[in-house]
Amino acid sequence: MIAIAITGASGPILGIRLIEELLSGGEEVYAVVSNAAWQIIDHELSYKKNGPSPLTGLIASRGKTAKINLLKEYDDKDFFSPLASGSTLFEAMVVIPCSMKTLSGIAHGYADSLITRACDVAIKEKRKLVVVPRETPLSIIHIENMHKLALAGAIILPPVISFYTLPKSTDDMVDFITGKVLNLLGKKNTLFESWGNSHCPAK
Ligand SMILES: Cc1cc2nc3c(=O)[nH]c(=O)nc-3n(C[C@H](O)[C@H](O)[C@H](O)COP(=O)(O)O)c2cc1C
Repeated sequence: MIAIAITGASGPILGIRLIEELLSGGEEVYAVVSNAAWQIIDHELSYKKNGPSPLTGLIASRGKTAKINLLKEYDDKDFFSPLASGSTLFEAMVVIPCSMKTLSGIAHGYADSLITRACDVAIKEKRKLVVVPRETPLSIIHIENMHKLALAGAIILPPVISFYTLPKSTDDMVDFITGKVLNLLGKKNTLFESWGNSHCPAK
């Protein structure tokens, strides 16, 4: 089972695409979406939070995966969620996209939300933690927080455009980042081919 958090940075589509790909691959996903992320989902994807399982509703409405039953979602204030405890053996935790506020909370162990608590758990239990921070430019505070997390074992994967894959759309760019995270998780990635298989100019 993989834990995914979507926080209030630009680019919630990154987290949504990752969840879709994991579900399609038969992976169980426990997900948390922060309140700020829902505001950005409304702004960037024109989708309003609604119903008791809003993320499930959003992903079902996009029709990209049939395996929606593998998705469980939790409220960001629900400390009774399995994700709040080290006794839940989640394989990895991914925060995608990660706001600078949540980055700071994780880096300082300030676990006042389910997302920051689950990351705290991932660090203390030595589980894989992948953080996809989205901000530009970066201040020294942001950089120091990333440094702290990297020292604690987290993988910092900024959503940087891959010009070398010759993207034709924002969807291509999103899929590249999604594929990079899948690779880090050791999961099947069909979103882009490895260098030399399709993009090598010599072939
Ligand atoms: C449209 C919009 C875009 C934002 N983009 C970013 C961003 O890219 N990175 C960031 O760190 N904060 C961004 N913010 C600010 C965060 O949403 C804000 O700091 C919030 O408190 C984060 O809460 P969370 O970490 O609990 O999700 C944005 C806010 C809005 C309204």
